[in-house]
Amino acid sequence: MTSRIIGLLAAVSVVALPAAAQDLDPRARALVAKMTPDERITLLHGFWSRPDRTHKPLPPGAEPGAGYTPGIARLGIPPLQESDASLGVAWINGQRVKGGTALPSGLALASSWNTKIAYAGSAAIAQDARANGMNVLLAGGVDLTREPRNGRNFEYLGEDPLLAGTLAGETIRAIQDQHVLSTIKHFALNAQETGRHDVDAHISEAAARESDLLAFEIAIERGHPGAVMCAYNRYNGPYACGSDFLLNKVLKRDWKYPGFVMSDWGAVYATDFALAGLDRQSGEELDKQEWFGAPLKLLDAGDPNYHARITDMNTRILSAMYATHLFDDPPVPGPVDAARGEAAALAEAHAGIVLLKNNGILPLLKTARNVAVIGGYANAGVMSGGGSSQVQPARGPGGIIPTSVDNGRPAMLHPDPPLAAIKAKLPSDAKVVFDDGRYIEQAAAIAAKADMVILFATQFTAEGQDVPTIDLPGNQNALIDAVTAANPRAVIVLETGGPVTMPWVDKAAAIVEAWYPGIKGGQAIADILFGDVNPSGRLPITFPASLDQTPRPKLDGLYEDDWSKLSANYDIEGSDVGYRWYARQGLTPLFAFGHGLSYTSFKYDDAKVTGGDTLHVSFRVTNTGLREGRDTPQVYVTARTGKKGQRLVGWGNVDLMPGQSTRVTVDADPRLLADWADGGWSLAGGRYDVTVNESAVQPLAQGSATVGARRLAP
Ligand code: BGC
Repeated sequence: MTSRIIGLLAAVSVVALPAAAQDLDPRARALVAKMTPDERITLLHGFWSRPDRTHKPLPPGAEPGAGYTPGIARLGIPPLQESDASLGVAWINGQRVKGGTALPSGLALASSWNTKIAYAGSAAIAQDARANGMNVLLAGGVDLTREPRNGRNFEYLGEDPLLAGTLAGETIRAIQDQHVLSTIKHFALNAQETGRHDVDAHISEAAARESDLLAFEIAIERGHPGAVMCAYNRYNGPYACGSDFLLNKVLKRDWKYPGFVMSDWGAVYATDFALAGLDRQSGEELDKQEWFGAPLKLLDAGDPNYHARITDMNTRILSAMYATHLFDDPPVPGPVDAARGEAAALAEAHAGIVLLKNNGILPLLKTARNVAVIGGYANAGVMSGGGSSQVQPARGPGGIIPTSVDNGRPAMLHPDPPLAAIKAKLPSDAKVVFDDGRYIEQAAAIAAKADMVILFATQFTAEGQDVPTIDLPGNQNALIDAVTAANPRAVIVLETGGPVTMPWVDKAAAIVEAWYPGIKGGQAIADILFGDVNPSGRLPITFPASLDQTPRPKLDGLYEDDWSKLSANYDIEGSDVGYRWYARQGLTPLFAFGHGLSYTSFKYDDAKVTGGDTLHVSFRVTNTGLREGRDTPQVYVTARTGKKGQRLVGWGNVDLMPGQSTRVTVDADPRLLADWADGGWSLAGGRYDVTVNESAVQPLAQGSATVGARRLAP
């Protein structure tokens, strides 16, 4: 636990009326009416259900997980059994032994730009959750990538609110369709891990509404999560979990959110956070007090404001439980269906791996006879991200690598080694030599003798700590320099949590970003390298050429001891997150948002753009190459009424045979054309310019149309 300010009261002036009252379930109201004073606080605070960490012994029936909130047996209310997270049912340092699907990272999913892939993976992990006796998944991470060094970027879905919000919404919908309640998290502006309990995210309301808050808004509209998890950090002053603005105003009043707000674990500093809109204190032993236990009970009896609020808090929790079928379809612990999970994880990895560069060496020939595989623990497994979202299958990690990250948290490999999968593609008598890359000269000598080289490079990132630089750690850049010098037929495969710099970019024959590719990662990488699957991933984040290009070349709070006054100025880029910042500043990144190559080629033409109430764009995509492939043409607005500025407003995700064409249609969500001004969305009337791109920086078709001026309510 990091240093933090304890006991700071939230500045709360307005008591929220129950918002969206019409959406609350009458059955929930009836149950609340029957509650005794003790029962009225039972659902409002939960504890850590990690047997090694909790302050309370787990009650009978409680599964090891992240959180447990007791039910009320007398009223037939089940307990909430809560597991992390969006990449699978977390392994909690081996305490959950049943296993479960380890999906590729969130950035891999986001690279698919594909809602069906998002749905299938999350449906599989929700079934795993049920098999583990869990009825809540702490999933739905959607914080935008403002900081390429953020140790949790791998859990999230990139830098664009439409892309991240759409895919997060779909994952939540999938989880809840399996009758598991899902969160969306971490609300909001939780963009760095450094000083995460203290950092005050400064950004104007308008910029937040147009970026990070919009990602949440889109995801909530699409997925209807039962709960919103508020973040550790502060937002323009108050803590996010005690922010009347974020919880009461934005979430409950403006968006009419009918679910409940649960705190992150150890994010509550006062009982009056309840008046700011917080409905449940989670992981209460991590806070200074069980604020939502005895202190809240006293206030329930003595203060009508609190009494009304406590009725609302309970009603929201129970309504969300009814809506997600926690009463009528409880999970029944049983075996995990590993095959179903692995199929979903493989499909996601196939769709999420991004081919960044290819001089023609890929796809590799299956007739190769003399191959060197170097580095990245490719003999043992594929990299995964650390922290509360860490998943492992029942048989445990494929390897554990000591690190200095977050007080020595080890990196864990998922046990699907690329080396074995590569060997399986080649003739049985082909020579495949593995070298771990530790001794650069030795690796270079082995590379020099091979017909071709596949070099794996890894970057471990984890919750609780940002990476200090975006350079590949250790000696990996020097290794790549030496190996590419020894053999120009070298393919570099990256398994990274986020973007990295590539000083050797011109020397590599091909570069593949495999992210953390999940439990079938080794196979997925080999399938792409050898052309059994045509790569189709597109970057959901910009890869900077160097940190100097980013809004904050120095990470706020890095290497500091006292974070109590830490703030991060997100007004620098405002709502121009990621590619929008690069466009605004005229910067050329290493690899642009939306970039990704294929083994075939595509053409866009016949673009038609019409206006009116919003923009309607349609165009033709043709597969102009020689093999089947999936393409993701992206539609950007580039100027509104003469004002330059780039915004993604939609995309296609189409599978095409060679020579085949199809039309893609995009109707822009008017909020993406608008500015937030004077408490609502404001669209300027006039000409809007549009391009259809293969990446944020590569337009292939264009058009324009006139949109009428209009105002939209929040
Ligand atoms: C993380 C959450 C997680 C919770 C429970 C917190 O430290 O920020 O994302 O759901 O722990 O494990």
